[in-house]
Amino acid sequence: MIHFSPLKRSAIDTLIRLERDTTPYSWTAQNLKNSFEASADCYLVQSEGESIGYYVVQRVLDEAELLNIVVFKPFQSQGFGSETMRKLKLELAGSRIKKLFLEVRASNEIAMALYEKMGFEVMHARRNYYRVEKQKAEDALIMRCYL
Ligand SMILES: CC(C)(COP(=O)(O)OP(=O)(O)OC[C@H]1O[C@@H](n2cnc3c(N)ncnc32)[C@H](O)[C@@H]1OP(=O)(O)O)[C@@H](O)C(=O)NCCC(=O)NCCS
Repeated sequence: MIHFSPLKRSAIDTLIRLERDTTPYSWTAQNLKNSFEASADCYLVQSEGESIGYYVVQRVLDEAELLNIVVFKPFQSQGFGSETMRKLKLELAGSRIKKLFLEVRASNEIAMALYEKMGFEVMHARRNYYRVEKQKAEDALIMRCYL
């Protein structure tokens, strides 16, 4: 069983360190601080008292955007991402959110598998959206799920 609790600003540096061990495309502490400033929902995900990841959702009227979801490396591929998404969708639907959007790198196969399994569909591709010096540019896929 997982549990969501509001993320504390004092935890930002620890979370970002854990995220950096998880993905090369980690958020920065500034990204998380900006989410707090924008009054996004920033939640820690815990299982049996352990912090296993976090998510950030921005609500706008009856829509929401999943700005980030992370399951830290030691806890991946054990169903926690799916469980988090299932619970999050239920909570958003319960507070009258009708559509959930997100953006994902086209190469992020595991995230794509998670999102497709959870009922998201690709609405639009932003061609070559991610450009990193000396690396091949990459598309961003915009996905939507009706709640
Ligand atoms: C994307 C992420 C949140 C998924 O979390 P997770 O807990 O590993 O996901 P789950 O264990 O619930 O697996 C979900 C699906 O992903 C796929 N998957 C998971 N681990 C996989 C692996 N090692 N290899 C291939 N597919 C895998 C499977 O399709 C799985 O569904 P199934 O178990 O029914 O087969 C996690 O990998 C992560 O934090 N990645 C780094 C951050 C990131 O990229 N976030 C998304 C930003 S858009």
